[in-house]
Amino acid sequence: MCGIAGYVGPDDALPVLLNALHRVEYRGYDSCGVAIHNGNAGSGSRRIEVAKAVGYVDDLRAATGPIPGGVGIGHTRWATVGSPSKLNAHPHLDCTGRVAVVHNGSVENHYQLREELRQRGHRFRSETDTEVLAHLLEEYGSTPEGVAEALARVQGPYAIAVLFEGSDSIIAARRGSPIIIGLGDGENMVGSDVPAVLERANGFIHLEDGDIATVSASGVEIRHRGEAVRRRVHHVRWGPEVVDKGGYEHFLLKEIHEQPRVLRDTLAGRISADGHVNLGLGLDRRTPPEELFLLGCGSAAHAAMVGEAFLAALSDTRVQALEASEMVRPKRRGPGAWSVLVSQSGETADTVDAARDARRAGHFTLALTNVPESSITRAAHAIHHLRAGQEVSVASTKTYLAQLVGLYLLGLELFPPSDRRRRQMAAALRRLPEAVQQALAMAPQLEMLGTRLAAAEHAFIIGKGINYPTALEGAWKFKEVAYLHAEGFASGELKHGPFALLDTDTPVIAIMPRDDTYERMLVAVEEIHARGAPIIALTDCDNAELQSIAQSVVCLPPTDPMFTPVVSTAALQLMVYYCGLARGCPIDRPRNLAKSVTVH
Ligand code: M6R
Repeated sequence: MCGIAGYVGPDDALPVLLNALHRVEYRGYDSCGVAIHNGNAGSGSRRIEVAKAVGYVDDLRAATGPIPGGVGIGHTRWATVGSPSKLNAHPHLDCTGRVAVVHNGSVENHYQLREELRQRGHRFRSETDTEVLAHLLEEYGSTPEGVAEALARVQGPYAIAVLFEGSDSIIAARRGSPIIIGLGDGENMVGSDVPAVLERANGFIHLEDGDIATVSASGVEIRHRGEAVRRRVHHVRWGPEVVDKGGYEHFLLKEIHEQPRVLRDTLAGRISADGHVNLGLGLDRRTPPEELFLLGCGSAAHAAMVGEAFLAALSDTRVQALEASEMVRPKRRGPGAWSVLVSQSGETADTVDAARDARRAGHFTLALTNVPESSITRAAHAIHHLRAGQEVSVASTKTYLAQLVGLYLLGLELFPPSDRRRRQMAAALRRLPEAVQQALAMAPQLEMLGTRLAAAEHAFIIGKGINYPTALEGAWKFKEVAYLHAEGFASGELKHGPFALLDTDTPVIAIMPRDDTYERMLVAVEEIHARGAPIIALTDCDNAELQSIAQSVVCLPPTDPMFTPVVSTAALQLMVYYCGLARGCPIDRPRNLAKSVTVH
């Protein structure tokens, strides 16, 4: 949810921390702060100095003068307990000012702990649950054992980095929320995820639940239940440029344009010449699915709906897409029950919970994720990696298309169609990156439409069959990126209620590739036209009748009817981007949102 960074080394920590926080700012950006051990080791009067700002890391950078000292921690916040303010921003100190802590997660018993601590004389300054941790840690002392004891009192998930006055190390710990240690040369870092440590690390370690790590410039010691342990070192395969905008004005635009490459990566090595799919997960050795749940939140739930339509078209198996938060207490099932958890970050609390619940209920659980080392991959039996690369913009674009293609591949492996159809689909999948490239090349028309939509107060998006979720996803993106109130509907449903809202100022985007839903979509579009609403048709053919009723027709490159959501979504994304740009929205960091939602 929020971003954590820590640095211990020979250089001043402040600039390193500010750069690191800037890179993880997509995780939370309503306020931020740093705590630095002011002065160098050996200098008698060292104390912890804190600087905070409401807003972005650049605001903190502008407001903070130099603070000497090579040990520090920092945080960029997405408010949960307590409004976004300087007082509530992390790091939080105990009342002596000798313990500073940054925290991701939630202290579920914070009221109770706060009351207890108050009775023992602690005075609180902020409204946050995190401040409780600083006071608690102060009581138990700076050793890893003390930290473990303090954390044993805490209910709820956490990832923390702690600075104790007088110490030349940072203590990091996790339970349920991710935290990593970046390994450099004579310097080390702590981060909520890899971009936080990219500047100085050439390897990194994922802490496990229950680990307490002491990170100094010269090394890292990890203890688990009092015992020293070693954790696998991963190599950093990206440079800091991966999280740069690469010449684009926004990450969102860069990530939209990366999609042809992403789809090639997602497909690479997974389809044989004759169209057989093998994800390399040993799925053929499992009891085949008799019942299959597809679970995700937000855009991932829309991807799951596309997956449902696709898998249901390939087989008679009962397939159900559900918002992960709605999978409450799944029924106990035999090995024929499968749950596929769709989550780009692998950290979405509701999806991780659904994975655990489904597994407990006896389901085979498969995580479809972009982050192979994430909470969901620990919870699930198997991992289907999306290979979309780091996505920085809060709105998901390239990871959404990768999820769709990931689900298509899964469907084709589980329920291969007849030889001819299988080869046809495999060929269409291989051509999909090119089709997306062509759709993105229509940017000038999509920009004109997006800019025109910026003047609207409301918009409808309609689709049918496998493109009904595309309508939902498009509307989701308009809300999130362009702050435009857009609603997605199944085209047949409009006349059952939403028609009441339709007027000449309500643009309707109709997603209507020429598949077996086309004629019914045309009927819906005619009904809308009769009520005077302007229509933008996204289709894959130049069609005279459509030209006469739609205000604009976007002729997208054709693909297999099953794969049209990929192409139409790419076009919608560009329209949304230009609409958001024209409305002056903070494209990559929409208000009130965060990249991964690790709280319930
Ligand atoms: O990381 P996840 O795929 O689990 O995230 C799920 C949703 O939070 C995410 O798709 C969200 O809806 C995005 N902001 C959509 O653009």
